[in-house]
Amino acid sequence: MRISVIGCGYLGAVHAAAMASLGHEVVGIDVDEAKIEALRAGIAPFHEPGLPELLTEAGATGRLRFSSDIAAAAEATVHFIAVGTPQVRGSNAADLTYVDAALADLLPHLAPGDVVVGKSTVPVGTAARMQDVLAEGAPGAILAWNPEFLREGFAVKDSLTPDRIVVGLPRDADAAATAEAAMREVYADALATDTPLVLTDFATAELVKVAANAFLATKISFINAMAEIAEATDADVTQLADAIGFDARIGRRFLGAGVGFGGGCLPKDIRGFIARAEELGRAESVAFLKEVDAINLRRRQKVVDHVVDLLDGEPFGKKVAVLGLAFKPHSDDVRDSPALDVAVRLKGLGADVRATDPYAIPNARRLHPQLDFRESFDDTVADADVVVLVTEWDEYRYLDPGALGEVVAQRRVVDGRNSYDPAAWHAAGWTYRGLGRPQLGE
Ligand code: UGA
Repeated sequence: MRISVIGCGYLGAVHAAAMASLGHEVVGIDVDEAKIEALRAGIAPFHEPGLPELLTEAGATGRLRFSSDIAAAAEATVHFIAVGTPQVRGSNAADLTYVDAALADLLPHLAPGDVVVGKSTVPVGTAARMQDVLAEGAPGAILAWNPEFLREGFAVKDSLTPDRIVVGLPRDADAAATAEAAMREVYADALATDTPLVLTDFATAELVKVAANAFLATKISFINAMAEIAEATDADVTQLADAIGFDARIGRRFLGAGVGFGGGCLPKDIRGFIARAEELGRAESVAFLKEVDAINLRRRQKVVDHVVDLLDGEPFGKKVAVLGLAFKPHSDDVRDSPALDVAVRLKGLGADVRATDPYAIPNARRLHPQLDFRESFDDTVADADVVVLVTEWDEYRYLDPGALGEVVAQRRVVDGRNSYDPAAWHAAGWTYRGLGRPQLGE
């Protein structure tokens, strides 16, 4: 297939490279010249394991090109829209400016029979509106909706071998048949290995995406709510999660209690869902998502409170080593990152915060240049009064508490991801504070 991918961010760049590696002719298009230059040179503009290799491999086949000129889309017959839908400033709603602009820019380059495929996460009802725009501006072009479920850090694997493919098709039978045939060809490899395919309508396809993210966010906030109860009762939320997770109906994944969820998707998607449900007159149906959001944000403050508590209520001028800035490991993304938020809050209390991360420092610095970033781990923890783990990169998860104890000023640790063995740290002389776990020391 000849494919264009409009928008080369976390989603589009990986999708373009994956499609090319599956044998399609792909052009990735983005308005950001610098991003296009980097991608052309085989350089991933963000940290995503496996993406540089995929770009190089696909680039060498000649099937993957990048352009900042939307006219390059004219050669393709399937056009994926993969631009961002960030949260509107001062509102819960999703900002559709980029989606609308991408479609408007694409219109003059579409031919009858072309299939435009929405991949961006949008409020339900957007596809129906876009179909009207398409009918007006490019008669004969067809819309399909194909939400994306890739996780940052595993984006290459998730794109090449998705766990399901969901396609929303138009009501018109001929248009639906054309779109379905195109999508079956695009995803022929995955479908050949029995990847489940859900063919549905636009609204369901749009909702599947936000419902999935809302469910994941709810699962995390559920266990974090249990952490709050555990804190009031001296119970251990990690054992609780293990125990309920053995029930196959519940499952242990996404029951990691800690500083909570962040990133460019879960937080803004639940808020966008709340805003859209209000517009639909169904505010009460997802009112619980406000609580999901509130629990999540409370956990960030809990980490800060633990630090302040370990500093006897006087954080001013104290050296706090913050381990991690990315919203999760294997990513350099700091959008709505709990880790970065904790660092900023501690700095706001006057603490002498030194923050480190293997990949996310440049992005964190752009947002919060006031923070003291340290490239070197040793530099970060030297003479620390408290060590705070907020992104569970392997290099921080598997620290030796004995060796670390030799270089800090005080053996006090806040384990914002419940990654450490409290007994081992306590045995090495540390005062340990986790989230929803019995506290050890002092
Ligand atoms: C999420 C979804 O998992 C993807 O399926 C979806 O495609 C993507 O959003 C999207 O909408 O594009 P992602 O944002 O990459 O993917 O991150 P997740 O792996 O879902 O993690 C989200 C946050 O939850 C992270 O901050 C992570 O640290 C946190 N988390 C995760 C927990 O606090 N506890 C857990 O047990 C699991």
